[in-house]
Amino acid sequence: MRTKMVAGNWKMNKNLQEGVALATELKNNVHNPSCAVVIGTPFIHLASVAEILKGSPIALAAENCADKASGAFTGEVSAEMVASTGATYCILGHSERRQYYHETTEILKEKVELALANGLKPIFCVGEIKDEREANCQNEVVKSQLEGSLFHLSEDDFRKITLAYEPVWAIGTGLTATPDQAEQMHAYIRSLVAERYGKAVAEDTTILYGGSCNDKNAAELFAKPDVDGGLIGGAALVAEKFLAIIAAR
Ligand code: PGA
Repeated sequence: MRTKMVAGNWKMNKNLQEGVALATELKNNVHNPSCAVVIGTPFIHLASVAEILKGSPIALAAENCADKASGAFTGEVSAEMVASTGATYCILGHSERRQYYHETTEILKEKVELALANGLKPIFCVGEIKDEREANCQNEVVKSQLEGSLFHLSEDDFRKITLAYEPVWAIGTGLTATPDQAEQMHAYIRSLVAERYGKAVAEDTTILYGGSCNDKNAAELFAKPDVDGGLIGGAALVAEKFLAIIAAR
């Protein structure tokens, strides 16, 4: 049975005090979740939030890491630094990183390798933009993102990856993919993993849906057989909503 998961992606929201308060509220309310729960926070929150989450089932993720191991890269944060805070996951390949910070499949390949080398489990995001969906080439786009950044990995390493399908047109827009659209893509992604790594690995791969997933639509999305959980942006910033999404999984 593959892991079911609800992961939050706080993005560039909440100052340290606000982040500590939200993490504390979540810790106090998540006891025996029926799925894995992860929160992705800005770098500056990691060490403090890791301390708060000690003894909690909630795991901690960074939202990014550098594509270099160490050295003269002013302002960057390495995978080793992330791991040293106590975080165990790292979100990589988010469309906002691809779009605004020009992260290519090659750069993401480096990041994935560095994350894995430092014991971090990548939550790797893929997804098409609106024009690509309208041109009906979402499958090709997602396939090339997977092939370019992940499919060189050994089976052992690939098993450490959680995938997140996030149609870019659905992120922060209120335009959620329909459960059928999500299921279609998730099943397609699983078929690609099966072609590359075999059916057993594909069956064990966790594939999250992200993009305006909230406390109202989560249950319907999670009911689909290939949707193993969610990567949650806006709704992860409000404890009540995030807890309701966890309960829906
Ligand atoms: P959203 O963001 O839930 O605010 O649409 C999801 C994401 O970008 O991970």
